[in-house]
Amino acid sequence: MTTLDSDESAESYFGTQLPPPTLDQDIAGVRSFVHRQRGLNRKVVLVTSGGTTVPLELNVVRFLDNFSAGTRGATSAEYFLKAGYAVIFMHRQFSLQPFSRHYSHSTNPFLDFLEIEPNPDKSSAPPNITVTRSERDGLLDVLTAYKSVQQSGLLHTLTFVNVNEYLWLLRAVSQELSVLGRSVLYYLAAAVSDFFLPRQKMSEHKIQSGKGSLLIEMDQVPKILKPMIDEWSPDGFVVSFKLETDPALLVPKSRAALERYGHHLVIGNDLHRRKHEVVFVSREHQGTAARDVGINWLRISGDAVNARGHPKEIEEDIVAELTKRHQAWIEGPRS
Ligand code: PMT
Repeated sequence: MTTLDSDESAESYFGTQLPPPTLDQDIAGVRSFVHRQRGLNRKVVLVTSGGTTVPLELNVVRFLDNFSAGTRGATSAEYFLKAGYAVIFMHRQFSLQPFSRHYSHSTNPFLDFLEIEPNPDKSSAPPNITVTRSERDGLLDVLTAYKSVQQSGLLHTLTFVNVNEYLWLLRAVSQELSVLGRSVLYYLAAAVSDFFLPRQKMSEHKIQSGKGSLLIEMDQVPKILKPMIDEWSPDGFVVSFKLETDPALLVPKSRAALERYGHHLVIGNDLHRRKHEVVFVSREHQGTAARDVGINWLRISGDAVNARGHPKEIEEDIVAELTKRHQAWIEGPRS
């Protein structure tokens, strides 16, 4: 059996799987966004967020999904905006988004904060809608930041659903971003499927039940980080995430990813502790030998509050650390 290396398997993937129909249009939007930010000499971060699906049929009824609500990506995007970055937010359709995430329909439904008040002067006039007093300050903060970002055109949003859309988009977006050289940061927080069903092997219509068990053999999704770092955007500062459920595997697997892809940083997170603890695994020197790898834990306590007295989010500290490291990379020696 011959095994393909990452570059070959990525090439063979893009040679056999069709691009999403909206790709050209999406990329035209990214191109003009990047052009604008470049003119303003602004740093740009690509945040990927949410999980990818793997459809089992061409006319999709059933699919496999990857865990991720999009909290990490949406929250981090807000802190990058606060730090002065322009943000391309590439997320799974209907997963959490910056700003609106504070009023997620399931955990904090915004309709619960609105009151209907009869118009006191004219009984025939439509009633007023007001915000519950206790929620006003919080909403004002979020709305002010949201409107200011909208006005300054600092946030560009792209959506994907399945892993094929994600891979095509990531390749094309990183190729567009490569013109920014070291000023671009990749923050790859999306949870990407490891296996997929090539369209050539997919059933056209809904798989019929009643024939006993279902056996499906899937292909491996190409490891996209390698060609991205080597070819598509070689000067960017690349941060990938590693999710594990066994705490003992977190550092070894993060370290293995760093050594395999040779990028800048892996942020390891355990499924159950990810909101309070992450580990930064990075090369301290240019070499990739195990002894050159730095392991730094970042933790916040459950009752920590931020400068405005609100519950602290670990993404605030993650982004603060990354903006420092990215700046050091921009100013660092060229090889
Ligand atoms: O959204 P939340 O609910 O807040 O959850 C956030 C999170 C836990 C999902 C997030 O913090 C996280 O850990 N995301 C990465 C999950 C993961 O382990 O992904 P992975 O093992 O599939 O990929 C690891 C890295 O390799 C990723 O950065 C990915 O971009 C990259 N990858 C993955 C697959 C692939 N074929 N090629 C890749 O390059």
